[in-house]
Amino acid sequence: MTITIKTAAEIEKMRIAGKLAADVLEFIAPYIVPGVTTNEIDQLCHDYIITQQDAIPAPLNYRGFPKSICTSVNYTICHGIPNDKKLKNGDILNVDITVIKDDYHGDTSKMFYVGDVTTHAKRLCKITQECLMLAIEQVKPGCTLGDIGYAIQKHAESNRYSVVREFCGHGIGKNFHEEPQVLHYGKPGAGIALQENMILTIEPMINIGKRHVKVLKDGWTAVTKDRSLSAQWEHTILVTPTGYEVLTLRKEEQ
Ligand code: MF3
Ligand code: CO
Ligand code: CO
Repeated sequence: MTITIKTAAEIEKMRIAGKLAADVLEFIAPYIVPGVTTNEIDQLCHDYIITQQDAIPAPLNYRGFPKSICTSVNYTICHGIPNDKKLKNGDILNVDITVIKDDYHGDTSKMFYVGDVTTHAKRLCKITQECLMLAIEQVKPGCTLGDIGYAIQKHAESNRYSVVREFCGHGIGKNFHEEPQVLHYGKPGAGIALQENMILTIEPMINIGKRHVKVLKDGWTAVTKDRSLSAQWEHTILVTPTGYEVLTLRKEEQ
Protein backbone atom coordinates (compact mmCIF):
# COMPACT_ATOMS: atom_id res chain seq x y z
CA MET A 1 0.00 0.00 0.00
CA THR A 2 1.17 3.53 -0.74
CA ILE A 3 0.36 6.90 0.75
CA THR A 4 -2.95 8.21 -0.56
CA ILE A 5 -3.31 11.82 -1.67
CA LYS A 6 -6.86 12.88 -0.98
CA THR A 7 -9.16 14.50 -3.57
CA ALA A 8 -11.18 17.63 -2.78
CA ALA A 9 -14.29 15.49 -2.27
CA GLU A 10 -12.46 13.15 0.11
CA ILE A 11 -11.06 16.10 2.09
CA GLU A 12 -14.58 17.45 2.53
CA LYS A 13 -15.67 14.08 3.99
CA MET A 14 -12.59 13.95 6.23
CA ARG A 15 -13.48 17.44 7.56
CA ILE A 16 -16.88 16.12 8.54
CA ALA A 17 -15.54 12.93 10.16
CA GLY A 18 -12.87 14.92 12.01
CA LYS A 19 -15.42 17.40 13.35
CA LEU A 20 -17.65 14.56 14.59
CA ALA A 21 -14.73 12.91 16.43
CA ALA A 22 -13.86 16.24 18.09
CA ASP A 23 -17.53 16.74 19.03
CA VAL A 24 -17.53 13.41 20.91
CA LEU A 25 -14.65 14.61 23.12
CA GLU A 26 -16.60 17.80 23.87
CA PHE A 27 -19.77 15.82 24.57
CA ILE A 28 -18.13 13.43 27.03
CA ALA A 29 -16.14 16.00 29.06
CA PRO A 30 -18.81 16.76 31.73
CA TYR A 31 -19.25 13.05 32.50
CA ILE A 32 -15.61 12.49 33.45
CA VAL A 33 -15.81 12.75 37.24
CA PRO A 34 -14.77 10.55 40.18
CA GLY A 35 -17.02 7.47 40.48
CA VAL A 36 -17.91 7.05 36.79
CA THR A 37 -16.71 3.84 35.11
CA THR A 38 -14.97 3.73 31.74
CA ASN A 39 -17.73 1.36 30.57
CA GLU A 40 -20.26 4.11 31.28
CA ILE A 41 -18.12 6.58 29.30
CA ASP A 42 -17.91 4.03 26.45
CA GLN A 43 -21.68 3.51 26.43
CA LEU A 44 -22.38 7.27 26.38
CA CYS A 45 -19.96 7.80 23.47
CA HIS A 46 -21.26 4.76 21.59
CA ASP A 47 -24.87 5.97 21.83
CA TYR A 48 -23.93 9.57 20.92
CA ILE A 49 -21.97 8.47 17.82
CA ILE A 50 -24.71 6.16 16.57
CA THR A 51 -27.82 8.11 17.54
CA GLN A 52 -26.79 11.79 17.38
CA GLN A 53 -24.10 11.58 14.67
CA ASP A 54 -25.42 8.73 12.54
CA ALA A 55 -21.82 7.54 12.44
CA ILE A 56 -19.91 4.38 13.38
CA PRO A 57 -17.45 3.97 16.31
CA ALA A 58 -14.41 2.63 14.41
CA PRO A 59 -12.73 0.73 17.29
CA LEU A 60 -15.73 -1.62 17.86
CA ASN A 61 -14.64 -5.03 16.53
CA TYR A 62 -11.59 -3.49 14.83
CA ARG A 63 -9.10 -6.38 14.84
CA GLY A 64 -11.13 -7.81 17.73
CA PHE A 65 -11.18 -4.68 19.91
CA PRO A 66 -14.30 -5.18 22.07
CA LYS A 67 -15.46 -1.57 22.76
CA SER A 68 -16.32 1.65 20.94
CA ILE A 69 -13.60 3.89 22.40
CA CYS A 70 -10.19 3.52 24.08
CA THR A 71 -9.85 4.69 27.69
CA SER A 72 -6.30 4.75 29.06
CA VAL A 73 -5.93 5.58 32.77
CA ASN A 74 -2.74 6.68 34.57
CA TYR A 75 0.07 4.26 33.61
CA THR A 76 -1.88 2.89 30.62
CA ILE A 77 -0.19 4.28 27.51
CA CYS A 78 -2.91 3.53 24.93
CA HIS A 79 -5.59 1.04 23.80
CA GLY A 80 -7.10 0.73 27.28
CA ILE A 81 -10.34 -1.28 27.16
CA PRO A 82 -13.29 0.31 28.98
CA ASN A 83 -14.29 -1.67 32.10
CA ASP A 84 -16.42 -1.51 35.26
CA LYS A 85 -13.79 0.05 37.51
CA LYS A 86 -14.71 3.48 38.87
CA LEU A 87 -12.43 6.41 38.08
CA LYS A 88 -11.06 7.98 41.25
CA ASN A 89 -10.08 11.48 42.26
CA GLY A 90 -6.59 12.28 40.91
CA ASP A 91 -6.66 9.89 37.92
CA ILE A 92 -5.63 11.10 34.49
CA LEU A 93 -7.53 9.60 31.55
CA ASN A 94 -7.00 9.54 27.79
CA VAL A 95 -10.16 9.12 25.74
CA ASP A 96 -9.42 8.17 22.11
CA ILE A 97 -12.31 8.56 19.67
CA THR A 98 -12.42 7.38 16.07
CA VAL A 99 -15.62 7.72 14.05
CA ILE A 100 -16.47 6.62 10.54
CA LYS A 101 -18.84 8.91 8.64
CA ASP A 102 -19.68 8.36 4.98
CA ASP A 103 -16.76 5.83 4.75
CA TYR A 104 -14.09 8.23 6.11
CA HIS A 105 -12.36 8.24 9.51
CA GLY A 106 -11.71 11.00 12.05
CA ASP A 107 -9.33 10.13 14.92
CA THR A 108 -8.55 12.26 17.99
CA SER A 109 -7.77 11.95 21.68
CA LYS A 110 -7.14 14.13 24.71
CA MET A 111 -6.30 13.88 28.39
CA PHE A 112 -8.91 14.51 31.09
CA TYR A 113 -8.33 15.22 34.78
CA VAL A 114 -10.56 13.25 37.16
CA GLY A 115 -11.25 15.64 40.03
CA ASP A 116 -8.10 17.18 41.53
CA VAL A 117 -4.89 15.99 39.90
CA THR A 118 -1.31 16.32 41.18
CA THR A 119 0.98 19.00 39.78
CA HIS A 120 3.33 16.42 38.28
CA ALA A 121 0.48 14.65 36.44
CA LYS A 122 -0.78 17.99 35.11
CA ARG A 123 2.71 18.89 33.96
CA LEU A 124 2.98 15.61 32.01
CA CYS A 125 -0.38 16.23 30.31
CA LYS A 126 0.54 19.82 29.43
CA ILE A 127 3.99 19.00 28.02
CA THR A 128 2.52 16.12 25.98
CA GLN A 129 -0.07 18.47 24.47
CA GLU A 130 2.74 20.90 23.68
CA CYS A 131 4.62 18.04 21.96
CA LEU A 132 1.59 17.47 19.72
CA MET A 133 1.17 21.18 18.89
CA LEU A 134 4.91 21.68 18.19
CA ALA A 135 4.77 18.70 15.80
CA ILE A 136 1.64 20.02 14.07
CA GLU A 137 3.35 23.39 13.56
CA GLN A 138 6.03 21.59 11.50
CA VAL A 139 3.48 20.30 8.99
CA LYS A 140 3.63 21.70 5.45
CA PRO A 141 4.59 20.35 2.02
CA GLY A 142 8.28 19.39 2.08
CA CYS A 143 8.41 18.85 5.85
CA THR A 144 9.71 15.35 6.59
CA LEU A 145 8.42 12.74 8.99
CA GLY A 146 11.76 13.10 10.79
CA ASP A 147 11.02 16.81 11.38
CA ILE A 148 7.75 15.84 13.08
CA GLY A 149 9.34 13.14 15.24
CA TYR A 150 12.22 15.38 16.20
CA ALA A 151 9.93 18.21 17.38
CA ILE A 152 8.20 15.78 19.75
CA GLN A 153 11.32 14.00 20.99
CA LYS A 154 13.19 17.24 21.62
CA HIS A 155 10.42 18.80 23.72
CA ALA A 156 9.71 15.60 25.68
CA GLU A 157 13.32 14.73 26.45
CA SER A 158 14.30 18.31 27.30
CA ASN A 159 11.61 18.04 29.98
CA ARG A 160 13.11 14.72 31.23
CA TYR A 161 10.26 12.62 29.84
CA SER A 162 10.51 9.64 27.45
CA VAL A 163 8.81 8.97 24.10
CA VAL A 164 7.00 5.66 23.50
CA ARG A 165 8.34 4.01 20.32
CA GLU A 166 6.09 0.98 19.82
CA PHE A 167 3.05 2.96 18.64
CA CYS A 168 2.89 5.74 16.09
CA GLY A 169 0.65 8.12 14.18
CA HIS A 170 -0.60 7.10 10.76
CA GLY A 171 -2.13 8.07 7.45
CA ILE A 172 -5.93 7.97 7.65
CA GLY A 173 -8.86 8.11 5.25
CA LYS A 174 -11.11 5.31 4.05
CA ASN A 175 -8.92 3.10 6.24
CA PHE A 176 -8.37 3.58 9.98
CA HIS A 177 -4.60 3.05 9.64
CA GLU A 178 -2.87 3.87 6.34
CA GLU A 179 0.70 4.59 5.35
CA PRO A 180 2.84 6.33 6.35
CA GLN A 181 3.76 5.46 9.94
CA VAL A 182 4.32 8.73 11.80
CA LEU A 183 7.00 8.08 14.43
CA HIS A 184 7.13 10.38 17.45
CA TYR A 185 10.92 10.51 17.50
CA GLY A 186 13.44 11.12 14.74
CA LYS A 187 16.03 13.32 13.12
CA PRO A 188 15.43 16.59 11.23
CA GLY A 189 15.23 16.01 7.47
CA ALA A 190 15.01 12.22 7.76
CA GLY A 191 12.25 10.15 6.14
CA ILE A 192 9.73 10.96 3.45
CA ALA A 193 8.53 14.49 2.72
CA LEU A 194 4.88 15.46 3.17
CA GLN A 195 2.84 16.50 0.17
CA GLU A 196 -0.25 18.67 -0.17
CA ASN A 197 -3.51 16.77 0.52
CA MET A 198 -2.00 13.99 2.58
CA ILE A 199 -3.94 13.38 5.81
CA LEU A 200 -2.28 11.88 8.87
CA THR A 201 -2.56 11.62 12.61
CA ILE A 202 0.05 12.71 15.12
CA GLU A 203 -0.47 11.11 18.54
CA PRO A 204 2.55 11.26 20.85
CA MET A 205 2.62 9.05 23.95
CA ILE A 206 4.95 10.45 26.61
CA ASN A 207 6.00 8.81 29.90
CA ILE A 208 7.31 10.35 33.12
CA GLY A 209 9.59 7.34 33.58
CA LYS A 210 11.21 5.05 31.04
CA ARG A 211 9.82 4.59 27.54
CA HIS A 212 9.33 0.81 27.68
CA VAL A 213 5.94 -0.76 27.06
CA LYS A 214 4.20 -3.93 28.20
CA VAL A 215 1.02 -5.23 26.55
CA LEU A 216 -1.33 -6.94 29.01
CA LYS A 217 -2.80 -10.43 28.50
CA ASP A 218 -5.96 -8.96 26.96
CA GLY A 219 -3.78 -8.34 23.89
CA TRP A 220 -4.57 -4.59 23.79
CA THR A 221 -3.86 -2.62 26.96
CA ALA A 222 -0.38 -1.09 26.66
CA VAL A 223 1.11 0.02 29.98
CA THR A 224 4.44 1.49 31.03
CA LYS A 225 6.78 -1.29 32.13
CA ASP A 226 7.87 0.77 35.15
CA ARG A 227 4.25 1.79 35.95
CA SER A 228 5.08 5.48 35.53
CA LEU A 229 2.34 7.86 34.35
CA SER A 230 1.79 8.24 30.61
CA ALA A 231 -0.11 10.82 28.55
CA GLN A 232 -1.27 11.06 24.92
CA TRP A 233 -2.94 13.65 22.68
CA GLU A 234 -3.98 13.09 19.06
CA HIS A 235 -5.21 15.11 16.09
CA THR A 236 -6.00 14.32 12.46
CA ILE A 237 -4.12 16.77 10.20
CA LEU A 238 -4.50 17.79 6.53
CA VAL A 239 -1.39 19.02 4.70
CA THR A 240 -2.42 22.27 2.95
CA PRO A 241 -0.47 24.24 0.27
CA THR A 242 1.09 26.46 2.94
CA GLY A 243 0.91 24.37 6.12
CA TYR A 244 -1.75 22.39 7.89
CA GLU A 245 -5.41 22.22 8.85
CA VAL A 246 -6.38 20.42 12.08
CA LEU A 247 -9.49 18.43 11.15
CA THR A 248 -10.29 17.48 14.77
CA LEU A 249 -10.01 20.90 16.42
CA ARG A 250 -12.22 21.48 19.49
CA LYS A 251 -13.80 24.81 20.52
CA GLU A 252 -11.41 25.09 23.49
CA GLU A 253 -8.50 25.14 21.01
CA GLN A 254 -9.86 27.78 18.60
N1 MF3 B 1 -7.48 5.28 17.92
C1 MF3 B 1 -6.24 4.55 17.97
C2 MF3 B 1 -5.27 5.33 17.11
O1 MF3 B 1 -5.13 6.47 17.36
C3 MF3 B 1 -6.35 3.15 17.51
C4 MF3 B 1 -7.20 2.31 18.36
S1 MF3 B 1 -7.27 0.74 17.68
C5 MF3 B 1 -8.44 0.03 18.63
O2 MF3 B 1 -4.70 4.90 16.16
F1 MF3 B 1 -8.73 -1.08 18.09
F2 MF3 B 1 -7.95 -0.09 19.86
F3 MF3 B 1 -9.47 0.82 18.65
CO1 CO C 1 -4.67 7.32 15.49
CO1 CO D 1 -6.83 7.48 18.06
